[in-house]
Formats: sequence, structure tokens, C-alpha cells
Amino acid sequence: MTIRAVRGTRDILPEEVGVWHALEDAARGLLARYGYREIRTPLFEETELFARGIGAETDIVAKEMYTFADRDGGSLTLRPEATAGIVRAVIEHNLLNTDPALKVYAVGSMFRRERPQKGRYRQFHQVDVEALGYTAPTIDAETIELALAYLDACGVEQHELVLNSVGDRHCRPAYVQRLREALRDRAPSMCPDCQRRAVTNPLRVLDCKVAEDQATIESLPRITDHLCPECAGHFAEVRRQLELLGIPYRLDHRLVRGLDYYVRTTFEVTSGRLGAQSSVLGGGRYDGLVKDLGGPDAAGIGFAVGLERLASLVPARGGKTRCHVFLMPLMKAALDPALRLQRELRRAGVATMLDPEERSFKSRMKQADKLGARLVAIRGEDEAARGVWTVRDMARSEQEDVPEERILDHLKEKANG
Ligand code: HAM
Repeated sequence: MTIRAVRGTRDILPEEVGVWHALEDAARGLLARYGYREIRTPLFEETELFARGIGAETDIVAKEMYTFADRDGGSLTLRPEATAGIVRAVIEHNLLNTDPALKVYAVGSMFRRERPQKGRYRQFHQVDVEALGYTAPTIDAETIELALAYLDACGVEQHELVLNSVGDRHCRPAYVQRLREALRDRAPSMCPDCQRRAVTNPLRVLDCKVAEDQATIESLPRITDHLCPECAGHFAEVRRQLELLGIPYRLDHRLVRGLDYYVRTTFEVTSGRLGAQSSVLGGGRYDGLVKDLGGPDAAGIGFAVGLERLASLVPARGGKTRCHVFLMPLMKAALDPALRLQRELRRAGVATMLDPEERSFKSRMKQADKLGARLVAIRGEDEAARGVWTVRDMARSEQEDVPEERILDHLKEKANG
């Protein structure tokens, strides 16, 4: 039996990687313009961090974490998301002391043991963006605008911004209590997940996708009708600024998101082209998380984009060019000058390859074509006798003799020209 990739993981093959580079480059370029710098945190953390940060009653923590015992008896978990680890690092290194308005991003793998399907993997990748220390609604609007600008930069069309406010520590407990009460009579006729959540984490009931439960859920009290004046004012200003910036959105009072740390603004961007897993990015405000994890009382807001989903929305990229110059030493004695030439060309920044195997002229030309080579430099018996290389311009199907003392400069000029 051959060994295959673990279920829910996938290889990103050389043919696809051009898209990934483009998406990552676009993120780095754009984020720098908004004042963000990169942070890299470990792929695994103490399990406790996620339980406290994301919430023990969330699906992510309760069902989906890759948790393992360390040899010394501790419990470690592969990060299911980036926010908790970033906040941990911000606290550990006192980053908010030197930079009270901190903007950081991370790019990398996340791990969740979900049921694999199209657009849902057990190892997936995110660009994760976090702004810490900002309380003003302006940063909510800016963060959302940034998320959309990123999709734009990647060439994603036809998406929808969905927006909600989930209140804060002042108004949400009273709302959750109302929800709990409203669910007391209704939950017994709902799906088993809802029955459980009605007790453990009533907000999660709003996430339920079971068709039979939808009418009941629509009849439940809505968070947006129970916001305190401060949260209502904050949300109104976020909406006003989005309108000012000409950003359309749809309000959805059920957008509570799958992580417990959110307060006030939550948002997602969905695309009909993604199928059942339609959310390409999601985020929101998490004032209180830094303090809960042992840091100062600092606000936070951010989002994460799923790169597998994003990649599936953008056109394939990257031409077939893998080398500029393909060298063809057609006899043994031509190998040494070809190796020297290859080294010099590569040092000069010219992508160069040579085929050291003994193959026919025809199969080498085929290979040069496959690699997208623009120039092929040939050295056989005839060229050696005349002290030249034959240089073929593949696009023009023209060839010329170049004296061996000129060959390096000639190829450099042509390749850069
Ligand atoms: P999230 O909504 O759990 O948020 O994930 C964000 C995005 O990651 C999703 O919209 C989706 O594109 C992608 N994603 C999530 N799970 C999977 C999966 N199993 N397979 C493929 N893609 C997936 C967070 O992770 C928050 N930490 C975002 C955030 C940052 N909020 C504030 N700051």
C-alpha cells in the first residue's frame, strides 16, 4: 500500500503555487500600505490558550482541535486559528507598551478536525490581520475596507459583505438570558445540536443550518434590538463610515461567528461561487480578549482570509517560464564550458538550466519548450570547431552564431532586454 496524504490535508503542487505566491505577495504589499507588520508565532501552543481564548463551548475547541500530550505531561494543541496565539505573543513581549496602536498580520497553516469537504480542510491556510489598541469605530470600517481591498487586489469578484453587532459585556449577557428563556420551550423540538447549545451556549443556536429549525430561529429575539446605547452608537458609526466609503453590505443579525471572543462588530465576506463553505473571510472586534489572556485592557479587531477558498476564486497564474536560458551541451567536451556559463548566468540573475543527460537533440528542444525557455544555447562538434555557440531565440525561431568569448554577455543582454 502506498502512503497517501492524511484526509483533509492537501498538497499545493508546483503548478498551483504561482497563485499562492500572488495571493501572499498581494497581502504583504497591501498590508504594508495600511501600516501592518508581520508576526510569526508557533504552530502549537498550550491547549489552555485556545480553551480560554476561543471559548470552551465553541465547536472549534470542543470538537475540532488537534490536541496531544507532551512528553512532560503538558497538553499542546496545533493552532486552529491565529488570533489567540498573536494575542499571547503581544502580551508576552509587551508589544502594546511600545506600540499602543499595534497592527500585525500572520500568514500560515491552521488545523481543525472538521469533516472534510470542498473548501473545508483539516490543515488550511490563512492570512490573519489584527489591529490592537484601537477602540474607535473608524478602525472597524478601515479593517472591513482593507479586507475588501485585499479581495479586490486578488481579482475576486461578486462577493457580499455581511455585517452584525453582537453587543458587548454590558448588553450581551442580558440578551443571552432572553435567548435562553425563549429557547426553553422551543429547543426540545429543535435539532440535537440546538438542544445542547440552548443550554451551553445559546448564541450558537443562531448558527444552526438545519432547515427545520430555521422558522424557530427567526422567531427568537434579535441581538440588534438589545444593544446598549454605546454598542448601538458604535455600530451606527461603523455603518455610516462604510456608507461614506461606498461599501455595500447586508445586515444579518444571526452573524455571531464561531468564536466566543467577539464583541460589537462582526463581519464575513461570502461568495456564491464557493458552494456550501461560502465564507472566504471572517472577523470582528474582540475587546476584552487581551485582558482575559492576562494582558492590559486593550481593544482588538481583525479578520482572517482562508487561502484555499481565495485561491479557488482567482484565475490560475504564472506562465510556464521556468528558465530564461536553456543550455545544450551536445557532447561531453561541451559540458564544462556549459557548467561555467550556467553558474555565471545564474549569478547575474538569469534563470538558467541545462540538461546533463545524454538525450537526442529533439527531446532536448522539447524540454526547453516545456520549461518556457526564451533562449537556447547549443554547443556541439560543429560549434566547438568554429569557437562559437548557436543561440536560438525560441519565440522568433531565429538563430545566430555567437563567439564563445561573447556568449556570457550576449545571453545576459538578451535575457535582460
Ligand atoms: P474563522 O471564521 O474561523 O475566523 O476563519 C476565517 C476563514 O478561514 C474562513 O472564512 C475560511 O475562509 C477559512 N477557514 C476556516 N476554517 C477552514 C477550513 N476548515 N478549511 C478551509 N478554510 C477554512 C478566524 O479564524 C478568526 N481567527 C478570524 C479573526 C481574526 N477574527 C479576529 N481576528
